[in-house]
Amino acid sequence: MNKATQPRMIQRYTTSQRINHWIIAITFVLLAVSGLALFHPSFYWMSNLLGGGVWTRILHPFIGVLMALCFFVFAARMFRHNFLTRADMEWMRHAPDMLNMKEERLPEQGRYNGGQKLLFFALIFLVLGLLLTGVVMWRSYFSHWFSIELIRLSSLLHALFAFLMICAIIVHIYAGIWVKGSIRAMTRGTVTPGWVWKHHRAWLRELRGTPTHDK
Ligand code: HEM
Repeated sequence: MNKATQPRMIQRYTTSQRINHWIIAITFVLLAVSGLALFHPSFYWMSNLLGGGVWTRILHPFIGVLMALCFFVFAARMFRHNFLTRADMEWMRHAPDMLNMKEERLPEQGRYNGGQKLLFFALIFLVLGLLLTGVVMWRSYFSHWFSIELIRLSSLLHALFAFLMICAIIVHIYAGIWVKGSIRAMTRGTVTPGWVWKHHRAWLRELRGTPTHDK
């Protein structure tokens, strides 16, 4: 397609939002790998990624704080786009249609669909949970403020939140790849009008200033 016939792209993310998102994604991978290395001896070989066991133990919490800070900045910028609406509830009721590639049966979606919004709030809960339990377990600086019972409980919860977070991000990556055209939103910042029409029609109507048709 030459430039003249190319449809005008729609901006979905700014450069700073994308840089922030990819810092979160890279730090998440580092945390998941180093966290598994700390979790069980059978994953210890993964500590090589950060230069061995000692470096893994030193760096893991600092990378965790970096990810949490970047995530909360990003989440604050995305917050107003993730308020749940009645159309989102309807989307959740019809979620199997989405998986069966019958998206036309779903109500028109705004900038994000009900599933993305649920995941967004789950991520806020999990990152906050990982940060708080991680601080309690951070022996070099903070653990002496807390009782051994609380440190033990935090270790347990930290592992549970990490497991849920890894599952949530697998779903997030799968959805990003499965909904063709989404990855370019996070690499180039833009999406095609066709992509928006297919997946986020209410958002397109909002951008174009045309009224939403409730199905
Ligand atoms: C590791 C690889 C990752 C990939 C390939 C990836 C891919 C994507 C893509 C394609 C989008 C755009 C979706 C759209 O606009 O419809 C997106 C948005 C987003 N991503 Fe990721 N992501 C990754 C990791 C993460 C991680 C680790 C987090 C958080 C801890 C995260 C949080 C988000 C959030 C909050 C959004 C905006 C969605 C919303 O506001 O509801 N991503 N990601």
